[in-house]
Amino acid sequence: MRMYDLIQKKKEGKILSTEEINYMIRDYTKGIIPDYQMSAMLMAICFQGMDDRETYDLTMAMRDSGEIMDLSGIYGLKADKHSTGGVGDKTTLVLAPILGALGLKVAKMSGRGLGFTGGTIDKLECFPGFSTAISMEHFIKNVNDIGLALAGQTANLAPGDKKLYALRDVTATVDQMSLIAASIMSKKLAAGSDIIVLDVKTGSGAFMKTLEDSKKLGEIMVDIGTRAGKRVSAIVTDMDQPLGNAVGNSLEVMEAIEALSGRGPKDLMEVVYALGAEMLLLAGMAENQENAEKMMMDCVESGKSKEKFGEFISSQGGDSSYVWDTEKFPKAAYEKGVCAPEKGFVTAIEAERIGNACMALGGGRETKEGSIDLSVGIMLKKKKGTIVEKGEVLAVIYGNDKEKIQRAGEQVSSAYTIGKTRPVEKPMIKLKISPRI
Ligand code: URA
Repeated sequence: MRMYDLIQKKKEGKILSTEEINYMIRDYTKGIIPDYQMSAMLMAICFQGMDDRETYDLTMAMRDSGEIMDLSGIYGLKADKHSTGGVGDKTTLVLAPILGALGLKVAKMSGRGLGFTGGTIDKLECFPGFSTAISMEHFIKNVNDIGLALAGQTANLAPGDKKLYALRDVTATVDQMSLIAASIMSKKLAAGSDIIVLDVKTGSGAFMKTLEDSKKLGEIMVDIGTRAGKRVSAIVTDMDQPLGNAVGNSLEVMEAIEALSGRGPKDLMEVVYALGAEMLLLAGMAENQENAEKMMMDCVESGKSKEKFGEFISSQGGDSSYVWDTEKFPKAAYEKGVCAPEKGFVTAIEAERIGNACMALGGGRETKEGSIDLSVGIMLKKKKGTIVEKGEVLAVIYGNDKEKIQRAGEQVSSAYTIGKTRPVEKPMIKLKISPRI
């Protein structure tokens, strides 16, 4: 088999066989197929697409390019969730302890943030001592003992995807639907859970800007997972404005703790409960959506989910006293309000600009190796649909460098649109995608 022939075949819009896809991923991962040939293939895929069978085969080939986590030591069904990434998305921090407290086994695999979307691992590292670099034995023991553990992706989890993703990043081939679906699902399948619930973000701050594309991506991923024998579903949720009010690592952690104390922002809690209900239903732990949501709300109200969060932080080496005293989190040196230029309704808050403002403050990672300032960020005081007076504070910027605060302030200001009429309130949960096969 020659890579040259496969590139030619895909360029002509033909379908690659399972053997051809396996060969391509195996030899690319080993370094036998060079980047320039794989780049040509990726571009051909962007123009000609892949059918469902090819997308499935690509996923499995990338899953099998490294180790597959053996979670058989965990008693009962194991559940994982994945978000396609957004601004202010601290859902995992709230959802995982609620489900852990309810008795579901949450074996969560998370990543770090890159670009304007934050990563769960960075947020958790706001707790001094917290580590996701735990051994497999430690991970399994924690899930069995407390119902919850979170690990970072090891180097050997789907290395084929890792290499291919880096190449896509520099060849303008990231945004092809089959490539995104295969990339996400190869890692989720290698992580070994039985239940996978996908949060597909849609809107200005998401990978997929339209509902149609988000639906399609969700359907492809659910099909892949179902074919691979997993219990999978996807929920398409709104990312037209940041989720919740806090954007920035320690600010988001504090907001998550508030949420676990029963004071979470409405939009965040809607997403948490929708995803959680799906996980409980797939696990057979709830009779219906209503019953599942009530179980979760009661759990938050009882204080058990916050206690579980503290237990989880300590179990991975973190200082859980911060859960009970959030004043301990490092604070930025300066704060500055961004004010409304006129009276009116907030009609839009462009999530990507808010994410970029947080990056400008030093709260995001420009490169994979870059460091981040955990204390900086933005608190949105006014969300979409609220009425504001001229000069009223729309958002507060927290930073450690006055020049950066100035730049971030300009971006936050430009993210807001103030209009004369109240915008139509759109649902947070756009649709649910269940297995079709
Ligand atoms: N996240 C991934 O892991 N892969 C993609 O291709 C896009 C988002």
